[in-house]
Amino acid sequence: MTDNPFRSKGAATADAFCGREDTLAEMTRALKSGTSVALAASRRSGKSWMAQTILEHLKKDKFLTAYLDLVHVHSPIQWIERFAGAVLNSTASTPEELFATTRKFLPALDLSSVSADARGYRIRLPPDSGDEQLHAIADQVYRLPRHIAQETGRSIVLCLDEYPEILSFLEPKVIERWKARLNDTKSVVYLLSSSRPKLIEDILGDGLVKIFSLGAIPAEAWRDHVLKLFRKGGFTMDKETASAIVAATHGYSYYTQAVCAHLWSVRKSSRKVTEEDIREIPEWVLDQEDAYYEQIWRGLTKPRKSFLAAIAQEPEAQAFSKDFRAAHRLPSASTLQAVVEYLEDEGLISRNGSCRIVDPFFQEWLKRNVV
Ligand SMILES: Nc1ncnc2c1ncn2[C@@H]1O[C@H](COP(=O)(O)OP(=O)(O)O)[C@@H](O)[C@H]1O
Ligand SMILES: [Mg+2]
Repeated sequence: MTDNPFRSKGAATADAFCGREDTLAEMTRALKSGTSVALAASRRSGKSWMAQTILEHLKKDKFLTAYLDLVHVHSPIQWIERFAGAVLNSTASTPEELFATTRKFLPALDLSSVSADARGYRIRLPPDSGDEQLHAIADQVYRLPRHIAQETGRSIVLCLDEYPEILSFLEPKVIERWKARLNDTKSVVYLLSSSRPKLIEDILGDGLVKIFSLGAIPAEAWRDHVLKLFRKGGFTMDKETASAIVAATHGYSYYTQAVCAHLWSVRKSSRKVTEEDIREIPEWVLDQEDAYYEQIWRGLTKPRKSFLAAIAQEPEAQAFSKDFRAAHRLPSASTLQAVVEYLEDEGLISRNGSCRIVDPFFQEWLKRNVV
């Protein structure tokens, strides 16, 4: 019965997407001109939504679009399967077309490996495929986007979400071979994303793609967006309340959406958000996300934990100074260097003079629980 317009998970929708027009326009323009792009920004800050929105825009401009989330990939075989599946889905609209494309461009693939289900076309390679057979298939699969672009006369944009995950399932040598194909023709372009901003440059090398960062959604745009959606749904809300929701969630994409979705569902009968609701936002978020933070925390080694606890307590401190290390019983400066690098690679902290915990609610969780 409810038609909650806010959502904190799932694919982006045009109505729920807010702001960031400049980044959207610039990245779209680069892709249209044949330049691959990468989006580097912290977890839950809106990379996937931005990427999906860009793909939607390009689709309207006659681009073929394919989307693949590398978080879900865990082996070289499955990478080939998923890559081929995503590309085939971008072009084939009927099973007949799918078989025709497969026969023509993927002759190394047995047609029985191709099937369709509710989520689209799938490729399943036989589990006993030998190395040689796999190499042959991989080569054909990597060339597939280019063939399809040629055949259809349309450009194709491939989104590889969370691109650095490729390191977890492909050998560096194989990645090199694959990388050489990133920019081999202007009619095949890539849209990559990464929660680990530093890694993206390491993996891609210089100048292969244009790297974009994702700034915060401007507070006023967020406020107006929130206000519009609540009012459209029959809520009585003033500007101050909408501003207060954005402020309490630090305008952090995921949290603002999650809190709005929650407020909508608990207040859908009165259609009014109260002052008390606003005051309770931080508690609600911390309660809701406790397991997520705990999981991050438990995945860290002791020196990494100690360091996070220390900067959660003293966010402005000079992390490598002798005083700071002594006050928090931290390891030597060289060990600390490695700790900081790891946490930065993981996108948990950012360094800009001093170190800062990227997620404002994780910072608060640390302060409450481990300091
Ligand atoms: N531009 C946006 N406007 C409104 N909400 C957004 C926007 N971008 C992201 N969100 C919200 O934040 C959540 C996390 O975004 P997502 O794109 O999945 O982050 P990431 O890929 O960076 O981890 C989304 O599910 C959505 O609720
Ligand atoms: Mg994502």
